[in-house]
Amino acid sequence: MNHKISLFEKKIGDAIGEVVLREKPESLFDPVRYILSIGGKRLRPLLTLLAADMFGADPEVAVEPALAVEIFHNFSLLHDDLMDQADMRRGMPTVHRKWNANSAILSGDAMMIESYRHLVNVPPHLLPQVLHIFSNMAMDICKGQQYDMDFESRLNVNEEEYLEMIRLKTAVLLGSALKIGAILAEAPPADADLLYRYGVHIGIAFQLKDDLLDVYGDPITFGKKIGGDILANKKTYLLIKALQNADETQRAALEQWIVAVNPDPLEKIAFVKNLYDQLNLKQLAENLIEKYYLASLDLLSSLKVADDRKMDLLRLSEKLMYREK
Ligand code: IPE
Ligand code: IPE
Ligand code: MG
Ligand code: MG
Ligand code: MG
Repeated sequence: MNHKISLFEKKIGDAIGEVVLREKPESLFDPVRYILSIGGKRLRPLLTLLAADMFGADPEVAVEPALAVEIFHNFSLLHDDLMDQADMRRGMPTVHRKWNANSAILSGDAMMIESYRHLVNVPPHLLPQVLHIFSNMAMDICKGQQYDMDFESRLNVNEEEYLEMIRLKTAVLLGSALKIGAILAEAPPADADLLYRYGVHIGIAFQLKDDLLDVYGDPITFGKKIGGDILANKKTYLLIKALQNADETQRAALEQWIVAVNPDPLEKIAFVKNLYDQLNLKQLAENLIEKYYLASLDLLSSLKVADDRKMDLLRLSEKLMYREK
């Protein structure tokens, strides 16, 4: 990675190291320090800094809101892992496994509040706008997460519903991270909106890839257990297409696994994965990822900013397309 990106990553890392550093009680803040310290890609705060920089702002003004974005993301993971009954994250036990469900709930709440404590540290005349974007994003994530849960017990979820669900639960956060950076740089509103749409496209590709890695990833590299989405009957693009493209026999068997009470987890994962392979669904998902990626490139190229100012963002989004973690 180039110099600017490593510089920004260091800024973010240093700032995260200071978050709730000495706050008590430890039972409330240890889980916060734990989830923040085990890292992750820290993609979203980088987007905020890059967007601010792209429009010529001093990235320093974007560090606090970038921190807010990353803390909010990590908060959503505490609750998400509880809701998804996930045991592993970033190669480590999830908070509700290491502590308990109440810790995941309350330390998560504390993180959400902590994110606003950082968010408000922006120039006062920009605060209403920044708060508006951030709070709408936060509500969108709640909506997306609820759809994600509701879809677990439905068989007739279609592609359009899925794409809207992942737009809400995942993509708007990337879009908002970028838009907040643009706003801090006082970019023209049309450019800030365009960057938001760019982020949403990247974000949809990002979640499609996450769903792929949940089936085909390497657990060590990916840091999460493989097959969690299959066990939870998550209506991913893969499962939606499997239900759609399977022949009668395949579909009947698939539905049996979906409704099975306490199925053998490894057998269920193996069956579903094998069906995905037979139906060539990995390729189908990769094509859709490519489609969103290419559309994002179109959006970025229509942004009226000198090409060399777009390079870092382009490089980062390209790297995301090939990610294995
Ligand atoms: C995980 O996000 C949640 C999704 C939206 C898929 P990341 O894959 O960015 O997780 P970290 O922060 O790098 O661990
Ligand atoms: C993540 O979706 C969306 C949010 C955390 C809001 P997933 O449930 O697929 O994320 P992972 O796979 O647990 O990281
Ligand atoms: Mg999850
Ligand atoms: Mg989830
Ligand atoms: Mg996932």
